[in-house]
Amino acid sequence: MHHDLQSSACSRVFSYIALTLLRFLTLPPSALASDAQFYDSSSKIGFAVSSAPNSSSTNLLFQLSAPQAAGWGAVGSGTRMDESLMFVIYASGKDNGVTVSVRTAHGHDTPEATNDIDLVVLSTTIQNSTMTANVVCYNCTKWSSGSSIDVNSTKQPWIWAVGPGDSLVSASQSANFNQHASNGNFFADMTAARSDSPTTAPNISGTSNVNTKPLSSAFSALVVIHAIGLAGSFFLLFPLGVILLRWFGSFKFHWMLQVAASTICLVGLICAISLSVLDPEYASFNQTHQILGIIAVAVLLPQIYFGYSHHRNYKKLGQRTTVSHLHLWSGRSVVLLGMVNAVLGFVLADSNTGAVVVAVLAVTILVITALVVFFGAKKRRSALTANSSHSSDIALNRYESFRG
Ligand code: HEM
Ligand code: HEM
Ligand code: HEM
Ligand SMILES: *[C@@H]1O[C@H](CO)[C@@H](O)[C@H](O)[C@H]1NC(C)=O
Ligand SMILES: *[C@@H]1O[C@H](CO)[C@@H](O)[C@H](O)[C@H]1NC(C)=O
Ligand SMILES: *[C@@H]1O[C@H](CO)[C@@H](O)[C@H](O)[C@H]1NC(C)=O
Ligand SMILES: *[C@@H]1O[C@H](CO)[C@@H](O)[C@H](O)[C@H]1NC(C)=O
Ligand SMILES: *[C@@H]1O[C@H](CO)[C@@H](O)[C@H](O)[C@H]1NC(C)=O
Repeated sequence: MHHDLQSSACSRVFSYIALTLLRFLTLPPSALASDAQFYDSSSKIGFAVSSAPNSSSTNLLFQLSAPQAAGWGAVGSGTRMDESLMFVIYASGKDNGVTVSVRTAHGHDTPEATNDIDLVVLSTTIQNSTMTANVVCYNCTKWSSGSSIDVNSTKQPWIWAVGPGDSLVSASQSANFNQHASNGNFFADMTAARSDSPTTAPNISGTSNVNTKPLSSAFSALVVIHAIGLAGSFFLLFPLGVILLRWFGSFKFHWMLQVAASTICLVGLICAISLSVLDPEYASFNQTHQILGIIAVAVLLPQIYFGYSHHRNYKKLGQRTTVSHLHLWSGRSVVLLGMVNAVLGFVLADSNTGAVVVAVLAVTILVITALVVFFGAKKRRSALTANSSHSSDIALNRYESFRG
């Protein structure tokens, strides 16, 4: 009796495994179709997407839903509004239906309807105060005027936004609407979102993310903190440390400020690495900005050692040693590198204005610092010769404070 029970449990497990294997092996390919789903639980916008081959192109299939109370809801290709291919839905006012408006934007201007896309709305509904549209797009994957949609990307970037809650009912695809109440980014593994039925949109099911990854809200804060910490150090603190040394002859304030700035850079680096890990676009750490940034911060540690070592040698020998020249030249190089990297940071974030502003600032600060180093050295040299006839002790002190 006992034995029988055990063996029947055993064979049940076995037949379960065998059946599952069999089912998996004999599954028709269409039933393997899967999709990527994004859902934001606070704004209740949902998006399910897949792709299917068409003769000469690839169909993009999606279902988009948003609460009618928001007025409108939208998703778009890429990481920002500028040049994104956007799909906006709002109530049409006809048969409980929804208008699907294909748009693109310049910068942060109100997106404008585009005719450059061949798209068919399969069906729409408003049910339970939720607007839903099922769409097939025949050439969305050919959109190349901006942020493209790559069905072979494992981290295709998307943006989303929902309206501010103004009532919006229009059958026109170019209806006017007001700026979003909330917006965000997510990434989809498009390779996991394949379908074999070229005109059936996937269904949003449940409220979880499937094959998608929303961008953490900490991301933008970390971008700002790393940029302020690192750019602030390389543009203000390090040059100021040089000016303190060369103009005011303060060795003490030089090393204290440079060590403090290096510490800030270390915190900036930790933020930079965290923000890169959060964003699938940056997680492989292969951007020039990231590599140069890591190098720039890494150089600071030996740089502190060179400065200290120079100082110790100088007190003993009264003259520069190899390590002095290392400190001088790696110091000058790392400050320049940090400034160049800030320009690259803005290029990476697609802010040309930022890149230009920061490049002009870099040149200005480098020129001022170079002038200070040059005339500071001259000033102290003449102070040295002028004073030497009166009191060589004071002169030596000053000279030492200026050379460490
Ligand atoms: C009337 C229409 C719209 C206006 C006036 C507008 C305006 C703006 C402005 C001023 C910003 C920058 C400030 C901020 O972050 O809040 C912004 C950001 C953003 N908007 Fe819009 N927007 C509109 C429509 C849309 C649509 C339809 C989408 C989605 C498809 C969208 C997605 C985003 C995203 C993801 C951001 C942050 C990234 C970026 O700066 O581009 N917006 N929008
Ligand atoms: C010398 C050191 C660095 C400086 C001065 C610097 C500065 C900047 C600046 C000014 C921006 C533009 C921010 C904006 O548009 O608001 C930026 C963006 C960025 N930085 Fe850095 N950064 C440095 C190091 C790093 C490091 C070490 C990493 C990663 C390992 C990193 C990752 C990034 C990324 C991923 C962006 C783009 C963010 C976006 O798309 O909005 N940075 N950086
Ligand atoms: C990472 C932090 C540091 C940076 C970026 C830095 C940068 C610099 C730069 C650029 C110069 C040359 C200025 C010129 O062009 O004439 C310099 C000179 C000097 N630094 Fe630093 N420094 C740092 C840390 C330190 C520390 C910790 C010390 C001492 C403990 C130190 C001691 C000196 C001295 C004595 C000189 C003058 C050397 C000479 O004229 O022969 N520095 N530093
Ligand atoms: C309708 O919406 C409510 C709340 O938004 C939700 O609890 C309910 O499950 C929805 N019903 C259906 C059929 O989707
Ligand atoms: C998409 O197809 C339409 C109609 O054939 C065409 O007018 C449009 O230029 C195409 N757009 C792209 C991006 O290929
Ligand atoms: C995507 O990859 C498949 C093979 O995996 C290839 O046949 C297809 O041409 C690719 N599509 C694009 C747009 O690169
Ligand atoms: C394939 O794409 C064309 C437009 O390029 C479209 O007219 C046709 O219906 C599509 N076929 C399928 C099966 O989706
Ligand atoms: C989505 O749901 C509808 C019914 O609600 C169904 O007819 C359709 O086949 C479903 N689509 C997919 C891809 O499962």
